[in-house]
Amino acid sequence: MNKEFQSIWKGLDRHANSISKLKIVDLFSSDSNRLTCMRLEAAGLSLDLSKNLVDKKILDRLTDLALAAELPSAIRAMFEGRIINVTEKRAALHTALRAGPNSLARVNGRRIAPEIATVHARMRELTDSVRLGHWKGASGEKITDIVHIGIGGSHLGPELACEALRYSADSRLRVHFLSSVDGGQFDRIVTPLDPASTLFIIASKSFSTTETRLNAASAKSWLTTRFSEHNAIAQHFFAITNAPEHVRQFGIPEANIFPLWDWISGRYSVWSAIGLPIALKFGMKHFEMMLTGAAEMDKHFQHTPLPTNAPVLLGLIGLWNSNFLGAESYAVVPYDDRLRHLPTYLQQLEMESNGKRTTLSNHPLDIASAPVTWGGLGTNAQHTFFQLLYQGTRIIPVDFIVSMTHPAAHSEHHATLVANCFAQAEALARGSPSVEANCTPEIGSTPLYKDIPGNNPSTTISMDSLTPETLGSLIALYEHKTYVQSVIWNINAFDQGGVEAGKTIARDILEEFRSGHVDGKHDPSTSALIRRYIENRK
Ligand code: F6P
Repeated sequence: MNKEFQSIWKGLDRHANSISKLKIVDLFSSDSNRLTCMRLEAAGLSLDLSKNLVDKKILDRLTDLALAAELPSAIRAMFEGRIINVTEKRAALHTALRAGPNSLARVNGRRIAPEIATVHARMRELTDSVRLGHWKGASGEKITDIVHIGIGGSHLGPELACEALRYSADSRLRVHFLSSVDGGQFDRIVTPLDPASTLFIIASKSFSTTETRLNAASAKSWLTTRFSEHNAIAQHFFAITNAPEHVRQFGIPEANIFPLWDWISGRYSVWSAIGLPIALKFGMKHFEMMLTGAAEMDKHFQHTPLPTNAPVLLGLIGLWNSNFLGAESYAVVPYDDRLRHLPTYLQQLEMESNGKRTTLSNHPLDIASAPVTWGGLGTNAQHTFFQLLYQGTRIIPVDFIVSMTHPAAHSEHHATLVANCFAQAEALARGSPSVEANCTPEIGSTPLYKDIPGNNPSTTISMDSLTPETLGSLIALYEHKTYVQSVIWNINAFDQGGVEAGKTIARDILEEFRSGHVDGKHDPSTSALIRRYIENRK
């Protein structure tokens, strides 16, 4: 970190000390302009950042911090396709997937817009054919069910969007997501289906992920009990991958393989052919509308000055809350059932991207990186974890996400839902009238256990309506927020070396289950668990 960065960081630490003594509600009365300065409109989204424990001076210093970390050039580097994934020596060009045919993005000097357009054209051809009933299964049946097999980044984006857009378009196709290696999930999802009218999409960038390989193999066996292997595979299996040779070995023909480029990380891949289930369910037009919304957010991110740039401010305020105010986690609470997969989606996006402890120049990081992302659906969350937000001992900022309208004809439900969303944000900031910390409960006074201190930061992200465009823009907002934070923390947001550790040991343990012999290399606790499992298997 350069000297200027360090000095701004120290200054922010001092500001954190003094502002912690103030109340969010008082910040409103001391600055009549606060709401105007801290509410932003970007790509169909409205961000109200005013219920955070920051003031104009702090926001200015956070922006200076971003400048000292050279954020503007880091943003350019991402869009230009520079090697920002330094450990894997790759670009991170998810933005190119939604930039349209005129995009100038290049990889190794080659313009990539034509390849992207080709993939989109193939997606359109397949989705039209399946949706119109022209694509037939091995026995001539129309397809009624799609099973998308994939995990992590090859699963969460399509699942989020398929739920989020469920009112956007009619679909006679049912889309299911098979992700866990748990055979119980296979039984729940696949077993009740009819093989004759089921289409499988195997989504795996590496095509070596254990869960996906095993589920794909089980799907193949399930299908081939009914049909001859050749017909079954060609008519019922598609794959999206960066490892076509593995897919061919599995038996899927070349014509059924969609490419996934190495310059797209799994958790940023919903815009690629990984989004096929979205296009199959709602039509390619709706998938393209999602791309359009994301592209709008990209333009905003690229061209808006830092002080009014939505992903930049969301990232900086998140960083302020965790690095300076000490929040170790933050909660994402959508007040919309259609967005119920958003917290899980953001868990992977933020924690797999920024859960790192090494700087870009391979030194130990000496500041905290990503806080824990978690959350749940409003209003259910109010009846589970909100008590802790109100009266627990930790500071847990919240992102509230809400749509101002809803397509379902339940206006009383929606009004109640939204009223609760606004009320929680207000109550978390305001708390209840304070009582003396040392008061003794007595008749006529407010006992301490009823005290709600308030001052809990929150951000409200709203949209007029949840559409493919605003969904695309919302996902892109969080993608860019994640990148902004990675630049300030000076870490690589696009690799995930850590997740390999457990995978290697799991392979060894599986071998031991097969052989019945426990290797001496485990700790005593793990060895005992392995022995117990082997005993029970007998
Ligand atoms: O969890 C590790 C990870 O590599 C993720 O980054 C990725 O999204 C997921 O596994 C699935 O990987 P693949 O698409 O290669 O099957």
